[in-house]
Amino acid sequence: MSERRSLRGARILLCVTGSIAAYKAVSLLRALTRDGAEVSVVMTPSATRFVTPLTFETLSGRPVRHGLFDGAETMPHLRATDEADLVLVAPATANCLAKCALGVADDLVSTLLLAARCPIVMTPAMDGDMWEHPALVSHVRAMRERGVVVLEPEDGPLASGLIGKGRFPAEPTVMEAVAACLDRRRDWAGQRVLVSAGPTREPIDAVRFVTNASSGKMGYAVADAAARRGADVVLVSGPTALAPPTGVTTVDVLTADEMAREMEARFAWATVLVMTAAVGDFRPRRPSSVKIKKHDWDGAPLALERTPDILASLSRKRTHQILVGFAAESDNLLDNGRKKLRQKDLDFIVINRVTGADSALGGDTSDAIFLPRHGQAMPVERLPKRLLADRLLDTVRDQCLTHPSAPALESNREIRRIH
Ligand SMILES: Cc1cc2nc3c(=O)[nH]c(=O)nc-3n(C[C@H](O)[C@H](O)[C@H](O)COP(=O)(O)O)c2cc1C
Repeated sequence: MSERRSLRGARILLCVTGSIAAYKAVSLLRALTRDGAEVSVVMTPSATRFVTPLTFETLSGRPVRHGLFDGAETMPHLRATDEADLVLVAPATANCLAKCALGVADDLVSTLLLAARCPIVMTPAMDGDMWEHPALVSHVRAMRERGVVVLEPEDGPLASGLIGKGRFPAEPTVMEAVAACLDRRRDWAGQRVLVSAGPTREPIDAVRFVTNASSGKMGYAVADAAARRGADVVLVSGPTALAPPTGVTTVDVLTADEMAREMEARFAWATVLVMTAAVGDFRPRRPSSVKIKKHDWDGAPLALERTPDILASLSRKRTHQILVGFAAESDNLLDNGRKKLRQKDLDFIVINRVTGADSALGGDTSDAIFLPRHGQAMPVERLPKRLLADRLLDTVRDQCLTHPSAPALESNREIRRIH
């Protein structure tokens, strides 16, 4: 076995199914957490007959999900997979493998396997005759063709008393497979990503201010996704109610001026800029340093002036950075987005619609149009913002960071010219 890699920060969803080898998932859970993974456990009803949820709950420090309908959560199958970097089914019964191959979704484990967008690793354990049954052979083949990693069970004494192929794979083999799958997801390693997020807040007086409806969710999702995929990330954030993402350096600002200052200070460091912040375009020209009394109000402090255009200014100073902008548009989405991309000399723009009940501003989900500098517009279906962030990183990676003749990461400007 090669040197054990750290799984620090990796979010693993461990699904335990009803095999006699279910007890081995207990030791596997300990090994995963020892190597730094954050593990949540889901069990099939059969699995709970072999090992109690309490065992996994105690060792993982998290509640164990085992029912589709009886937990406190709505849509547990979606919640569980939204939060995972990898789904590990260990042990995987013949029944579970068959259901996954056929797309059957009649319990929490089989349903979340259909919903998962992250890598899936399955570790079969069963009697040798079951493993060799033609039905199972074709199910395993079908899953491997779809990109699911199905490990080979091992030869040796089986629970039935027979000798054969069907034993739960050795723990180091499972750990290696998990690490290898997660490594594939570290495709942003080596990049330094500067993200802006949230609204800005421009004072009218000591207690009042002008702001907008941005929640910061999209920028936080991008920062989180980039960090989890290996990038060094700095997040410059206007005022939001969000917890800073793990592994990200977060710098809090209030006004557009403060945001401009912090972004300018870090721009030379960055290889990629993702400007999701809804920077206020206007600010009171003469804010009062004290609270204005009601009877003194004459409307004058609400005379507005333009704030600095941070993205345009950074764009003029760029040396090697890839620039990704966001356009919040209410009409003529594509035309307006294209105009902004050209005017600000961006490499990539994400166009969001900000009208209607399902506006991108403030919500948990958004649809979008991705528009690369040289390429076709790509409509993206409505997704939770964290998944949209991963989709954005996939697309920016493919369109702007990698190319068959791409030079080293340091030379992003060269790559930009190739496109
Ligand atoms: C004592 C016992 C041990 C079992 N061991 C296995 C096993 O190792 N592998 C397997 O595929 N099925 C095994 N089964 C059968 C499964 O528990 C059964 O197919 C069940 O429906 C699986 O449900 P699940 O896939 O939803 O967890 C075993 C059953 C019993 C009673």
